[in-house]
Amino acid sequence: MLIDSYNRVVDYIRISVTERCNFRCQYCMPEKPFSWVPKENLLTFEELFMFIKVTIDEGVKKIRITGGEPLLREDLDVFIKMIYDYAPEIDLAMTTNAYLLKSTAQKLKDAGLKRLNVSIDTLKPDVAQKIAQKDVLANVLEGVEEALAVGLKVKVNMVPMHNMNADEIVDVLEYSKARGMVVRFIEYMENKYASKEISRVPSSELLAILAQHYDFVEEGYDGASPSRYYRMSDGYKFGIIEPYGDDFCKQCNRIRLTAEGHLIPCLYFDEALSIGKAIKEGNIAGAAEVLREVVKNKPEKNRWGGEDGEVSSRAFYETGG
Ligand code: 5AD
Ligand code: SF4
Repeated sequence: MLIDSYNRVVDYIRISVTERCNFRCQYCMPEKPFSWVPKENLLTFEELFMFIKVTIDEGVKKIRITGGEPLLREDLDVFIKMIYDYAPEIDLAMTTNAYLLKSTAQKLKDAGLKRLNVSIDTLKPDVAQKIAQKDVLANVLEGVEEALAVGLKVKVNMVPMHNMNADEIVDVLEYSKARGMVVRFIEYMENKYASKEISRVPSSELLAILAQHYDFVEEGYDGASPSRYYRMSDGYKFGIIEPYGDDFCKQCNRIRLTAEGHLIPCLYFDEALSIGKAIKEGNIAGAAEVLREVVKNKPEKNRWGGEDGEVSSRAFYETGG
């Protein structure tokens, strides 16, 4: 079992398979031109899988495939099947912008994928175009319908922003609810790649807006989820993710692997170590040692918005949020 220095069990790994993306969401990577990691620096699926086996053998129970946009990586379903065949009981999920889901959902489901998180920040095509800097909404919504139709469980992420999509909080909730999907509102996290124009809707404001429309009670955290959940009087549950909140890190159970093989203990790059060399040499024991070291280094809390108001230099497109 992997246990960090604050006695938290680490049993969840998020694996970014590419930092490339077909969107340019303003809160994530609006700047162009953009220099990508050269393809030859990426770990192959075989190499990633070699490391995944190590993590599963050390007690990991949940794996999330992220990006960038993971569906840009060819044969992703083959990779998912490799993991599924090794450990069918693993909670195997993926985060995607849904743009390419329509043609891939069935294959992903057949390969053993269980759950999806998709970003739906708006239901207006022009607002979607503004946020993603591309006309994306029709494909996204079709992708979501297909994912539901093939039987994948889907959660929705929305990042509310003033003067952008804050007026659609109720609409996105209703859209999600009508399809049996839990929606989670994520407070915008400052980072040095994001547009300077963005204005975060804090959770207090969000709750005030929702309270004008619904009755609900707070249920608290669900396991190690970073989301605080609320239950409406008709039973529907929604969540709020507050990265600046005091409790955000308390039950953190996760580490992150980038497509290049950097293993990240927290929402930072500072303490990352690489498993790339060990894996490329087929040195399983070496990779396991790096894994244990990274878990040991996991900090107690993220440092944003604290006394010195630190802004994350982490790139979301590298580690998938
Ligand atoms: N702040 C909050 N959430 C973000 N995401 C990406 N960048 C940010 C940010 N700066 C979210 C997206 C997506 C998930 C992977 O991360 O909404 O759903
Ligand atoms: Fe948007 Fe996700 Fe792509 Fe970033 S990685 S640009 S949040 S779709």
